[in-house]
Amino acid sequence: MSAVDHQWNFATPAHSHPTPAPERAALLQNPGFGRVFTDHMVTIRWTEAEGWHDAVLGERKPFLLDPATSVLHYAQEIFEGMKAYRTENGGVVLFRPEQNARRFNASAERMGMATIPEELFVEAVETLVRADADWVPSGEGSLYLRPFAFASDVFLGVKPSSSYIFCVIASPVGGYFKPGTPALTIWVADGYTRAAVGGTGYAKCGGNYAGGLAAQAQASAHDCDQVVFLDSAEHRWIEELGGMNVFFVMADGSLRTPPLAGTILPGITRASVIELARDAGHVVNEAPYSFEEWKHDAESGKLREAFACGTAAVIAAIGKVRYAGGEFLIADGKPGEVTQHLLAKLTGIQRGQQNDEHGWVHRVV
Ligand SMILES: Cc1ncc(COP(=O)(O)O)c(C=O)c1O
Repeated sequence: MSAVDHQWNFATPAHSHPTPAPERAALLQNPGFGRVFTDHMVTIRWTEAEGWHDAVLGERKPFLLDPATSVLHYAQEIFEGMKAYRTENGGVVLFRPEQNARRFNASAERMGMATIPEELFVEAVETLVRADADWVPSGEGSLYLRPFAFASDVFLGVKPSSSYIFCVIASPVGGYFKPGTPALTIWVADGYTRAAVGGTGYAKCGGNYAGGLAAQAQASAHDCDQVVFLDSAEHRWIEELGGMNVFFVMADGSLRTPPLAGTILPGITRASVIELARDAGHVVNEAPYSFEEWKHDAESGKLREAFACGTAAVIAAIGKVRYAGGEFLIADGKPGEVTQHLLAKLTGIQRGQQNDEHGWVHRVV
C-alpha cells in the first residue's frame, strides 16, 4: 500500500493546547534522548470481538489504567524503535518502516498478542509523523518513534489478554550517547545473561529490557557506556549489547557478527549494515564469536575494529572492553575506518545525501 492510500480512518480531535512554536524551538535546541515529547499520539484498540478499531490521532496524554490491568502484572507488552529524519530538501522520511512492522508482529506472536496489519502499523506511524512534522529536528537530530502495544484486560488470571491498546508516541532526539563520547567502553556482563534458546530474545518485549537493567547498572558502576551479553548456555559466545547489535572488523577486511539464532534481536540496522558492507566489497560472516577469541584477536591485531549498531545510536565504535578480570583495547581505541565509512553511508542514505540504491527510504512529508 502506498503512503497516500488511506484504508484506515483515524479520528482527529483537535488539540486543545499545542506547544507554541517558540517553546517547541527551545525544546528542539538540545532535546537529549527520550525526554522531550511531541503534541500528539496515535491509539488503536483491539478486542477479540471487534479486531483493530477506534483509531485516533489525538493529543498526547496519560493512560488511565485500572490497577489490575494485565500488563502491569505479567508484562505482556511489545514495542518498536524507529526514526523520522529530515532530509536536506526539508522533507521527512522513515527508514525501512515495513521492517519494524514485520518485527512488531514477530514480537506479538512470541508474546501471545494480537498482530496488527503491517499497513496499519505503518500508517499509524506516518499519521503521527505528519501531525508532528514540525517536531522533526534538522541537522544531526531526528524524531524517535515509539510504537508499542500492551495487554489491557482488567484481570489477574495468567492468560493472553483479550484486549490490547496499540499506541505511537514521538520524541525529538539528539545523540544517544553523551556528547564527546568518541568510542564506547563496553562492560561484559558478569553473572547475568539476557536470553536463552526458546525464550524471548528475538522479540522486542519490555521484559527483555527489565531483565537487562541490573547488568546495565553493573556496566555503569564500572564506568562503561553499555553492557554486552554472552550466551546463557556456555557463557562464552558474544550475543549483543543491551540495546544494540555488535560487529567485528577483522584485519583481512571481513566483518563478523553473531548469527540470528533466536536469542538476539534481529536489528534493522544490523541487516542494513550487512548489505552496505557487502556492497562495499567486504565479506560478512554471521558466525559465533567467543569472548576469548575477541580478547585474543584484539591483542594480536587480528581484530581491527568493533562497533555497535541500532536505530538509537546508528553506529557507534567500541574502543575498550572491560570485564571482571581486566580490560583490553580495540586497536588504538578510536573509531576505525570501516566503522566511519559505514556510519557515513548509512546516515547519508537516511538523510537523502546518498543514493538510496536499496529503496530503504520511505517519504512521509
Ligand atoms: C536488544 C537490541 N538489540 C539490537 C537493537 C538494534 O535494532 P535496530 O537496528 O532495529 O534498531 C535494539 C534496538 O533498537 C535492541 O534493543
